[in-house]
Amino acid sequence: MLTRVVDTLLDRTIVPGYSRVGYALRSRWWDEELEPGVLDGHTVAITGANSGLGLATALGAARLGASVRLLCRNTARGEAARAELVAACPGASVVVDECDLSSLKSVTASAAQLRNELPSLRALVHNAGVLPPERIETAEGHELTVATHVLGPHLLTNELRALLLADTDARVVFVASGGMYTQPLRIDDPEFQLGDYDGTVSYARTKRMQVVLAQLWAEHLPGVSVHAMHPGWAQTRGITDALPRFARVVGPILRSADEGADTAVWLLAARWPGTTTGLFWHDRRPRPTSYLPFTRHTADEAQRLWDYCAVSTRL
Ligand SMILES: NC(=O)c1ccc[n+]([C@@H]2O[C@H](COP(=O)([O-])OP(=O)(O)OC[C@H]3O[C@@H](n4cnc5c(N)ncnc54)[C@H](OP(=O)(O)O)[C@@H]3O)[C@@H](O)[C@H]2O)c1
Repeated sequence: MLTRVVDTLLDRTIVPGYSRVGYALRSRWWDEELEPGVLDGHTVAITGANSGLGLATALGAARLGASVRLLCRNTARGEAARAELVAACPGASVVVDECDLSSLKSVTASAAQLRNELPSLRALVHNAGVLPPERIETAEGHELTVATHVLGPHLLTNELRALLLADTDARVVFVASGGMYTQPLRIDDPEFQLGDYDGTVSYARTKRMQVVLAQLWAEHLPGVSVHAMHPGWAQTRGITDALPRFARVVGPILRSADEGADTAVWLLAARWPGTTTGLFWHDRRPRPTSYLPFTRHTADEAQRLWDYCAVSTRL
């Protein structure tokens, strides 16, 4: 009871909860240990797996016995990450796949490759993320953050659904962000065409979309556990390069990449999350998806997000 109160307090007060302090306190109470070898014989695919949380998630999955597919837009950076991973986990089975999540064409090709090579997929982790300083459109005409965080993952999930359904305990994990708490679901303007573009706002809006999309996929993919999570604040390029001022202020209390990735690894391997679907997690506990009333959405708005994804990913 006391631990639950402290846990909730950490969540609501943000800074301690998102920092290494929150991780250090909560990790003392976790009772479900991940069994070594729990992912033996299974394959896990992780997008944006060549650095930061994606690489830490890949390493976590490999240490639990999974064969890992690193879906990276730059294969040289992917191969460097593969070497790092194998050095940290000798004997790990690691394959680099070229996949640019912001390109529907690239996602389709990469999914076809996985379907050709794999009998089943235990888990798909949507980790790739960007925070551009200005509004950029992809060659296919979509705003970059929505293409990378929403359309690419939607298409990849759809293209890999048969592989996921071929595993009896499959998981999909969207790596969202606590920043999404600040933004509502802007389905009236999903590609940020109205008003002055702000990269941080666009990032948070598309992270909100990911959380809603995870709930929608949970409904559309019975038999697969679909989760969204946020990692807190972890020391990665995503923070130090994209938000240097923020990184300077919170630098001393940032989590390590392994600590930030802990819940993603746990979601794809532990027993409890396999019995649930459609929830939003942080530090191994389900969390509310909205605190501020203006950030709540209706069922109709969620349906419009689904329709927008379906129409926009039709090639
Ligand atoms: N670090 C945190 O505190 C924090 C907090 C909240 C949420 N997150 C989320 O965590 C995820 C990982 O971020 P990170 O912090 O680990 O930052 P990171 O080290 O910069 O990792 C981002 C990864 O995404 C890849 N990526 C970007 N665009 C891509 C694309 N179009 N196709 C394929 N891969 C692409 C990057 O590849 P390149 O190397 O080729 O650029 C990189 O491997 C992101 O979704 C981020 O929003 C992080």
